[in-house]
Order: sequence, then C-alpha cells, then structure tokens
Amino acid sequence: MYRKSAEYIKSIIKSKPKIGIILGTGLGEVADAVECEVEIPYKEIPNFPTSTVSGHAGRMVIGKLSGKDVLVMQGRVHFYEGYTMKELSMPVQTMKTLGIETIIVTNASGGINYDYSPGEIVLISDHIKFDLDSPLRGENPAELGDRFFDMCDAYSKDLREMAKEVDSSLKEGVYAYMGGPQFETPAEIRMLRVLGADLVGMSTVPEVITANHCGIKVLGLSCVTNMAAGMEDGGLNHEVIDKAEKDGKTRLKRIITEVVTKL
Ligand code: HPA
Repeated sequence: MYRKSAEYIKSIIKSKPKIGIILGTGLGEVADAVECEVEIPYKEIPNFPTSTVSGHAGRMVIGKLSGKDVLVMQGRVHFYEGYTMKELSMPVQTMKTLGIETIIVTNASGGINYDYSPGEIVLISDHIKFDLDSPLRGENPAELGDRFFDMCDAYSKDLREMAKEVDSSLKEGVYAYMGGPQFETPAEIRMLRVLGADLVGMSTVPEVITANHCGIKVLGLSCVTNMAAGMEDGGLNHEVIDKAEKDGKTRLKRIITEVVTKL
C-alpha cells in the first residue's frame, strides 16, 4: 500500500525531501510559508487516505522551506473518521519510503495543565494512549522496522532542545490520545490530569508510533485551542477551536520555519 503511494509521489516530484511536516486541524496555513514545487491532492495518490473534516485541506505540498526540501501534509486523517489504526500508519510509511528522516507533527489540543492558555504552542514530550489497538498491529513490515521497538524518546529530546533554542518560552507537556469524535467529559479530563497528561487530542499518536517504528525522528508541536472540558464555562465545539488557533498559527509558522533551518 505505502510503496504504491510512494512510487506515485516519486514519479511526480524532482526533489528528495528528508523533512516531513504534518499539519493538523486548522494549521494548514503554515504551508503558506513553503515555496511550492508541486501540490498533490491526497485523492490522486493511490491508496492514500483522504481527510473528511473541515480545517483539513487534504493535499501534499512539496517544496522548499528555509531553503530545505520539505514534504508537507496539509491535513491528516483520524481514527474517528472511520479509518483503521493501520490505515493511519500509511502516510508516515509512505514518507519513510520517500526518504523522510525527520517529521514535525502538529495538532490542535485541549489544555489540561492550568499553566497553559488557549493559543499557546506546547512541545509534546511524551504521550499516553489507552486503547489497545496499534497502527503496527498485525504482520510486521520488517523492511520498515522491528516487531518490538523503543518509545522512550518518541518525541526526540534533541529536537525539543532545538525548538527551545528557537523559542525559549516553549513549555513541554504530555499528550493524552483520545479517540473522539466526542470531546472528553469533565470527569475524563480530571482522570487524565491525575494520570499526568497536560494536553488532550484526537490525533498524532498513531503517526508518532509509526514514525518511531521506522526510525523517523519526531518533533511534536501542539496548539492549545481551548482549555479541556469542564475547566471553563461553556461547552466545546469545532468553531471555538478554529478561532483560538489563529493566535497560535503565526508562532507555529515561525517555530517550524526556524527549526527547519537548523535541521
Ligand atoms: N479534546 C480533544 N481534542 C481536541 C480538543 C479537546 O479539548 N481541543 C482540540 N482538539
């Protein structure tokens, strides 16, 4: 599956990017900073899962950022859209087959840690995942990685240090992965806080597990779009999130652009 996707992309692009960037909900604009060589809608790529949610453009942008070749996924797919965990591993395995060595993953999240506020960008230092399914469940694609693999540096410490050189006010936090599409209940958020989570969201973790399996280094940047359920008056909805993101986007674009310079 991923080999077919990669072959198609290879047949279209001239560059050989080593840096991949995955832009989450509402964060697609970050791709505007890229000098585009070619844009490929996901639906044109054989076997590639296509995003069905608003705020996800659903295309690959290949070009230059800070003078470096990059491959940007403008929009991603989620488990709650009906994809299996295995299908969620496809885009990262395609990137690996294309020669990507580092990915910068971004997402929108709810802030659980009281030190955060909406619009803030947080470096993901680790994650918590509850459900037993894994993007690597089933036959191991041995050409990509080992059956059992380490997750101790899943969000590369070196890359986090690099990001802090670019923006010393960046905080770090543990991201709790919840399947969605419903937002969490206030009781779930209290539970997650007790367990050590600082952020909560519905994406990223399947991609990060897949990246670690195949030896891609990960930098995770989360845009806190709202305080998590029950922490503030009023409920949560997609519009609230879209709005709060605007503040975070400019900072995110700058951090990504400067980190790419250092890679
Ligand atoms: N919960 C889960 N996912 C999210 C949230 C949230 O509060 N905000 C943005 N994505």
